[in-house]
Amino acid sequence: MASTITRPPLATAADSFDSGRGYLAACTVGLPSRATRAAIVADVEAASRGMIDISAYSATVQRSRQLFARLVDTSAARVAIGSQVSVFAALIATAVSDGGEVLVPEGDFSSMVMPFVQAGRGIRVRTAPLHELAGAIGPQTALVAFSLVQSATGEIADAAAIAEAAHRHGTRTFCDATQAVGWLPVQASRFDAVVCHAYKWLCAPRGAAFLAIGEEMQQLVHPRFAGWYAGADPWASCYGGEFGLASDARRFDVSPAWQAFVGAEPALELFASFDGDAVAAYTTGLANEFRQRMGLAMPDRPSAIVTWADPEGSDLARLSAAGITASGRSGRARVAFHVFNDGEDVELALAALRR
Ligand SMILES: Cc1ncc(COP(=O)(O)O)c(C=O)c1O
Repeated sequence: MASTITRPPLATAADSFDSGRGYLAACTVGLPSRATRAAIVADVEAASRGMIDISAYSATVQRSRQLFARLVDTSAARVAIGSQVSVFAALIATAVSDGGEVLVPEGDFSSMVMPFVQAGRGIRVRTAPLHELAGAIGPQTALVAFSLVQSATGEIADAAAIAEAAHRHGTRTFCDATQAVGWLPVQASRFDAVVCHAYKWLCAPRGAAFLAIGEEMQQLVHPRFAGWYAGADPWASCYGGEFGLASDARRFDVSPAWQAFVGAEPALELFASFDGDAVAAYTTGLANEFRQRMGLAMPDRPSAIVTWADPEGSDLARLSAAGITASGRSGRARVAFHVFNDGEDVELALAALRR
């Protein structure tokens, strides 16, 4: 049976990329759009001629911050920039009191777990299966930290139930939306803090990460990683430790990987221009068609990532042999459907798997 889903319902989506044919790995690394590639090439060419404009880099970082804020429906004053999820998680750990309990899903991505394990000060990490996470929150839980979309399985957390239980128990919420923003609409205000590394579903270069942090949480977190860029005026904050930090979320900035943000800005601009619900419907439509024809169960909440048991890696090997880029995590084969894919990618993957 031929796929009924052929083109993105988004006028510019597929045309914005050279080709995503056979690339089912946005959950590993997103593809650069044409605009991102052009921006990076232009920057490297200018730099190789000695034309380096640091103030232009700062403006690019600021516009990226604004675009990310738009993507998660918050203000730029609530967004900090950095380069890794794990560093932002270590920052959020500073909001947990000595001896406090941090609850995380079993098997969540280690950048969301290890910083709490290593936090010291008697902070304890407890785990629960993702589908039981909301019920596992208790009055002793200082923070619940979880990925909205699980990296290894593609499973979607019941964010509403987690936020409701956390609110009832006075627990702070920290959500990793790295595997979500770009295909699944995310509202930062539902959580105390939302982190996102933009190199996957937002198709930015690796090294552009964002933390959306609410007003109350900003008061609880210590600017542990502050350097010159966290100053009220970064260019007047290059020496010593006497300067004042920014009064908004910028005080949690770490100095930017400039070249990554050069590529991130057009990537974020592209995704911010899309209708988020249409992207979710399109990507999960492809994923559901693949799932159905593979005979896999439909998840409670539709996901653009499909995984299935592949303990020997034989299905992943079949996909690779057919020239399809997929991935394998925790004994499972994993494919992801994004805006640069279409029904032909579903057909190619099914043919490679002989389903
Ligand atoms: C859910 C999730 N969070 C974060 C990351 C990346 O973390 P970091 O920025 O610390 O490399 C990944 C990468 O696979 C991920 O799947």
